[in-house]
Amino acid sequence: MSLAPEADRAYFAAFLDLRGKRGLVVGGGRVAALKAEALLRSGARVTVIAPEIGERLSELALVGAVRLERRRFQPGDLLGAQIAIAATDDPAVNEAVSAAGSALRIPVNVADNAALSSFIMPALVDRAPLQIAISSAGASPVLARKVRTLIEAAVPFAFGRLAQLIGRFRSASKERYPDPEARRRFWEEVVDGPIADMALSGNERSAASALEAKLRERRDFTGFVSLVGAGPGDPELLTLRALRVMQAAGVVLYDHLVSPPLVDLARRDAERIYVGKERDNHALPQGEINALMVRLAREGKRVVRLKGGDPFIFGRGGEEIDALLEHGIAFEVVPGITAAAGAASYAGIPLTHRDYAQSCVFVTGHLKNGSAQLDWQALARPHQTVAVYMGVGALAQICQGLIAHGMPESMPAAVVEKATLPEQRVVEGTLLTLPDKAKAQPIGPPALLIVGEVVRLRAKLGWFGPAKAEFGTDHVISR
Ligand SMILES: C[S@@+](CC[C@H](N)C(=O)[O-])C[C@H]1O[C@@H](n2cnc3c(N)ncnc32)[C@H](O)[C@@H]1O
Repeated sequence: MSLAPEADRAYFAAFLDLRGKRGLVVGGGRVAALKAEALLRSGARVTVIAPEIGERLSELALVGAVRLERRRFQPGDLLGAQIAIAATDDPAVNEAVSAAGSALRIPVNVADNAALSSFIMPALVDRAPLQIAISSAGASPVLARKVRTLIEAAVPFAFGRLAQLIGRFRSASKERYPDPEARRRFWEEVVDGPIADMALSGNERSAASALEAKLRERRDFTGFVSLVGAGPGDPELLTLRALRVMQAAGVVLYDHLVSPPLVDLARRDAERIYVGKERDNHALPQGEINALMVRLAREGKRVVRLKGGDPFIFGRGGEEIDALLEHGIAFEVVPGITAAAGAASYAGIPLTHRDYAQSCVFVTGHLKNGSAQLDWQALARPHQTVAVYMGVGALAQICQGLIAHGMPESMPAAVVEKATLPEQRVVEGTLLTLPDKAKAQPIGPPALLIVGEVVRLRAKLGWFGPAKAEFGTDHVISR
């Protein structure tokens, strides 16, 4: 993973503690007043400098909230300030404030001018003490505001009350549960349970006594493993349940089929462990993956074992569960969209169809001792779609095997590479032509082979990627 700064993510997100610190606002108008109010809300002592002061700032000065200095800005004004904001309509003054900030290393924001600012002010959803800051790094304040509106609607105001309640018990919880993992589990139970409901419905006194009682309870947090299907690649195809358990997990074990944006959906402080498993290139042998899961769960951790597609379809989920059962570790299985379903949908190939295929079989084309040991007779049946996982290495043998067992060599077949991802490619042909075409492209992992009359429908049903005109039979390579 590269940690080099990205042009469009060049800001470091942080929250400043300005309580009791001096904040300077240069400007006397409406925008300056808004900025001064934002600083006041964070507990800063605010001085405003401007030759002319508008109504709102005058009111704030009248009640003693800000100190006014009715004069022009001088660079020395920044001395002693921890933060400064320029909001004047005079570009020269704004520039002077920015330059003084750079010279004195004091963070400066110039309203509506990211180039002159050393920090920008995010759109804020304020449920103090809970605060949600949103930034588009200046690319689109309108979009940031839209996101803010969505979040405003989704986060009830009462969350602020809940956060306050939790804050009051924070040090007590640290004493009771010195282990951060156990403490987190304790708070997750609170936040997901009746105590939070009580606080959210305004019954804070009962919530506080219930919380005190819960802290006194004797609780051992035991480990738990969730075997989670991550789907074929597109993060949008993750199930809601998978997302929820990922956000709760302290450790995520993932393999090469799980794309980085999916792993990013885990909690920020979750430990992420790559356990690999590419064909013939195992980062950790299966036995060690099992042992690792058992060890982590025994340490009381909530573990997510994130697997590509569905854990129970060519995913060795069953073997991993055997290991957990052997050691008495509690687990759950969260299904995922399997590669065949994802690849078929995104390639516009229905796996079954009233006119062409009444059944569909999923097989592995993984070679054992150099040959694909498949029940050819059963696969070559008419009116059936065959989806072959791990079949690209043995593509030629599989196509020949099917022909040898009675499938016509003109049977349509397609290989879908990196299905559901923006890089998805489909090579389409027949049992006779596909192996050479796939070799010529060439096709890399992960890729799935689909054989059957239904592949023809792709010309009509293909929807993902470039315009349909590029689709067709027996010659196409496209997204
Ligand atoms: C070890 S199997 C795991 C299957 C997984 N458990 C599932 O349900 O999709 C790996 C094979 O799944 C297929 N596969 C997984 N993700 C894929 C994708 N995004 N595009 C095409 N094939 C994929 C490939 O055939 C790959 O060799």
